[in-house]
This record gives sequence, structure tokens and C-alpha cells, in this order.
Amino acid sequence: MKIINVVGARPNFMKVAPVHLAMCARGLDAKLIHTGQHYDDNMSRVFFEQLGMPRPDENLGVGSCSHAVQTARVMEAFEQVVLSHKPDLVMVAGDINSTVACALVAQKLHIKVAHLEAGLRSRDMRMAEEVNRILTDQISDLLLTPSADADDNLLREGIAADKIHRVGNAMIDSLLGHLDAARATGAVAAQGLVKGGYILTTIHRAENVDDPQTCERVLRILATASEDLPVLFPMHPRTQARIKAFGLQPVVDAARDLRVVDPIGYLDFLALQADAKVVLTDSGGIQEETTALGVPCLTLRDNTERPITVTQGTNTIVGTDRKRILAELATILKGGRTRGSVPELWDGHTAERVVDVVVAALGTTQDLDPFVVRA
Ligand code: UD1
Repeated sequence: MKIINVVGARPNFMKVAPVHLAMCARGLDAKLIHTGQHYDDNMSRVFFEQLGMPRPDENLGVGSCSHAVQTARVMEAFEQVVLSHKPDLVMVAGDINSTVACALVAQKLHIKVAHLEAGLRSRDMRMAEEVNRILTDQISDLLLTPSADADDNLLREGIAADKIHRVGNAMIDSLLGHLDAARATGAVAAQGLVKGGYILTTIHRAENVDDPQTCERVLRILATASEDLPVLFPMHPRTQARIKAFGLQPVVDAARDLRVVDPIGYLDFLALQADAKVVLTDSGGIQEETTALGVPCLTLRDNTERPITVTQGTNTIVGTDRKRILAELATILKGGRTRGSVPELWDGHTAERVVDVVVAALGTTQDLDPFVVRA
């Protein structure tokens, strides 16, 4: 059985790594293709090293460009990959542009598509990721979901129940498998911080950083938060570029203790999350990681595609309203928030369940040869 696993950007790596490794361990012929959507060492290479992933079999090197150009470049290059490797299945993950691009290429070549982290919905079509999620799910054959809400979303959109497989959260496989190594990095002390004595933040969504007013408002909130505790801000390149372009560096400089650093590798960042008093973020994955770690999280967005992190976990959706965020933060700093619980199947064994589903699905279609059809 030949499989192509696709990765493209930072949030893909910790989801695909355990699944790719489990497929190889099970004797499947799995190739790893990197679209190159993220390309900086600290956005990409360091994750391969720390997650024990092999070097990608190919890197398509698409880089940063507009949504249309990026999607088109991935599609053009990935079509050649599929034609030369002739896989039985392509697995895509998450909600980035590379996800939908590769799913579309594979499905048009009549190759089975598996979507890891299927069914999440923010119901906000202004987010590129929501468009990518909906389209990818509609053209996937195996919908590998992390939670029951995701199953419900798919059923409501008319997807057949027999395509939906609740496997759990592969990112939590990586988290549980690397937590000891993360703690051993000493990353918290290396940043001059102590357990429970700092706020960790990451902000990079287009909705929060591409508009000068919103970007400034968010920075001023972080500056105010740093009056209480040091705020460590590993900054995504998009955010770095916007702060420079909007002339907002003085806001950062004037803050009492807002520490901007370059993006941080997987293990160090995990250690920093685990020991933070609270995490302020607009990331999707960090909402889940903080829930698994039992660390309070404030999500600076108006919605989440991961509602289970709110209903069950440690996450609170706070938008970008200054008063609301500072009030929630004050509650947490006073110790007034319960820890929440870890959702079912976020247990470190998702990758094994994915391989079971894939093997069962491919076992029934051995005689299909799409390349005969195509020729
Ligand atoms: C992408 C994903 C988003 C994910 C995020 C994680 C889409 C639509 N969005 O957004 O869901 O949360 O990755 O990081 O796919 N850049 C670099 N080096 C890199 C990568 C990017 O400098 O290695 C800079 C470029 O200036 C680029 C900007 O970051 O223009 C944005 O990168 P891009 O991949 O387009 O989108 P992200 O904002 O990273």
C-alpha cells in the first residue's frame, strides 16, 4: 500500500509526524511530501528534527505568496508528485492552503484522500482556514475526526456516516510523546522565567495582525498584561512584518515586560506552555495543547473551530476586546479558573487508530488502478 503524507506549514508537523511514523512502523510504504509553504528553519526544519520525522521525500518549495498563487503552485507541483509515485492514498492534515490544494489534486486523479483533523468548523467564512476545511472535507474519502462535535458538523453537511472515523487528536500523540523531552530542555529557565510566573502569547492570524488598528490594540493589551507578569511573545514572521510595516515597535518597547523573541522550536515551546500561568493566543493548535496540559488559555478570536476546548478544556474565547481580555486575565491570575478535563481519545494513541482505518479502507480497494482510468 503506497501512501503520501502531506505537510506544508508549522501546525501540520506535529499532527502528521506520529501518523507517518506509525505507518512506517506498520510496514506501509509511506512517503512524506513537504509543500514548502513554511520554509524558515525555525518554522519547519527544527520540527522535523525534534519530532523524529524523516527528511521529506520531496519538498515542493512553494513558499509565501497570495492565497491563489500559493494554492495553484502547490497543485501544479503536487500533481507531478502523485503521477510519479502513484499512491493508493493521500493524507492531508489540518486547514492550511496546502491541505485543500493537495486534496483537490489527489481526488481529481481518483486517489483516495484522507483528511486528518476533519470536521472542525468556526462558521466564519472570512477565515481562509474555514474555507479550506469545508472544501477538503467535501472531497475526502476518509474523514478522521478528533471529537464528536466534528462528526456532527460533517453529518450536517451531508457527508456519509461511513466515511467518518473518530480517531482522536494526533497532535496530542506528539505532545504526550515529547513532554518529558520538552521539560528536559530547560527552556523556561533559559528564558529567565519560572514555573507559573509568566504569560505566554502567540498572535499571527490575519484577522488580528493585518489590520493596523487591531494589531495595535492587541499589542497594547499585551503591554498592559506585562504589568502583572512577564509576557513572552515568540513572534510569527507575519506578525513581525506587520509590526514593522505599521510602525508599532514603540508600543512593544514601551511595555513593562513584553519579551519578543523569534519563533521557538517544538520542544521548547511545549515546555513553555506547560509551565505558563496562562497562554494568550489566536492559534488553533495551542487551544488544544493547553487543554491537554491543563493550562488556562485565552483565545483572542470571536469564535473557535475547537469548541470542545471551551466546553471541556481550559480555553475561553475572549475576542480582541480590551476590557474582556483583561478581566478574564485578572480572574486567572487570581487563581480563579478550574482546570478542565482532557477530551476522550486525546490519549496518545490516535496515530495507531488512523493506521487501522487506512489499512481497512485500502484493503477493500486493492484492485482499483486509477492510473489506468486516467491514461
Ligand atoms: C499559515 C496557515 C495558518 C496557520 C499558520 C501557522 C493558511 C491559509 N494559513 O498561515 O492556518 O495557523 O500557517 O503558522 O494556510 N513566512 C516566513 N517564513 C516562513 C513562513 C512564512 O517568513 O517559513 C512569512 C511570510 O512573510 C509570509 C507570512 O509569513 O508572507 C505568512 O505565511 P503563510 O504561510 O502565507 O501564512 P501563515 O500566516 O503562516
